[in-house]
Amino acid sequence: MNIKQLTDGVFYVGVNDRTTVHFEGLWDLPKGVSYNSYIVAGEKTALIDTVAIGSIGEYLANVLSVTDSVDYLIVNHMEPDHSGALPEIAARFPGLRIVADKIAIGMIKGFYGITDESRFLEVKDGDTLDLGGGKLLSFHLTPMVHWPETMMTYLASEQMLFSGDAFGTFGALNGAVTDDRCDVDYYEAEMRRYYAAIVGKYSPFVQKALKKLAGLPLGYICSTHGPVWHREISRIVDIYDRMSRQETEEGVVIVYGSMYGNTGKLVDSLAVAMNQEGVDKVRVFNAGETGLSFILSEVWRYKGLIVASPTYSMDLFPPVEAFMKAIEIREMKNHVGAALGSFAWAPGIAAKKIEERMAALGMPLVGRYSMKMAPDASSDTALKQIAVEMAAAVKA
Ligand code: FEO
Repeated sequence: MNIKQLTDGVFYVGVNDRTTVHFEGLWDLPKGVSYNSYIVAGEKTALIDTVAIGSIGEYLANVLSVTDSVDYLIVNHMEPDHSGALPEIAARFPGLRIVADKIAIGMIKGFYGITDESRFLEVKDGDTLDLGGGKLLSFHLTPMVHWPETMMTYLASEQMLFSGDAFGTFGALNGAVTDDRCDVDYYEAEMRRYYAAIVGKYSPFVQKALKKLAGLPLGYICSTHGPVWHREISRIVDIYDRMSRQETEEGVVIVYGSMYGNTGKLVDSLAVAMNQEGVDKVRVFNAGETGLSFILSEVWRYKGLIVASPTYSMDLFPPVEAFMKAIEIREMKNHVGAALGSFAWAPGIAAKKIEERMAALGMPLVGRYSMKMAPDASSDTALKQIAVEMAAAVKA
């Protein structure tokens, strides 16, 4: 049990999940994940979001250790990692009203079959709910951060924003709940990974939300995943702003596939050449071996993107194809690209396909090279040229 009282009348009652292997059935969880839920207690008591259904036993015990009566369940986000325990909570507290926007109410009916209208209290943008005892909640609709029904809840007395997935991280909580007692660098990396994998596609909506909420004083940001941000709020909001503007930094990510190691050798030589050109931040990922979220996180951050693929059945090598699809879905911006291909008997196909895909993303290309079978002296010349051009582009 990891209950923490954050301020007078506000409690963390979330849970850790260290057994689910893939979040959303897709994204690696080597460090686990937390599903965060909070209690705000005035004269009435509100529970803010729930947890995944697999943690219902621990979660209910957490809630009951703080209160034996819940008057409101605030639903900021309906994805089942937060709403999974909703039916159990609604059944356990039959007088509880579910506070949500119109789209969320439709989803609750659809996902969980709760159709009794008297259970719902629909809120619109800017509405408030007074719990008494100085605890006034306000609701701020932030659609598409990360689903269309998402909203954030603000508790003015504590300057506390319950932000849903926004500002959330992968990684279970390792003892501490608030950022003043945890390794912030560790969670920053996991926030970047969560953003690139889960929220990044919706960056224009994140920007809208940040602008909309800019006037609210922030003493605490209580996300649905990862630590409660308190001491590091300005750092975290700044990173979120830059990530959602797709601002990129000096550095190069090389993403490759290789069946028998020849494309891998090519990529290693290119990493050396990049380093010789003065680029210190070079990240090399084998797309066939590394979880996509780890790759996307670094690609989101750094300006240079070099993709290398063998020609496979007259197309891209499947893990590289999956990577290209992932960056297209996320409409990645503000990169410069280079395309490397390899072939044995069908010249140029892989490099050309990568180039076309980068062009469709509006990504300027600084170089393209196709290797026949294995690296040779001509490879070194081509790689050197690409490294020179790429280094200049990422430093510009
Ligand atoms: Fe953490 Fe969009 O759910």
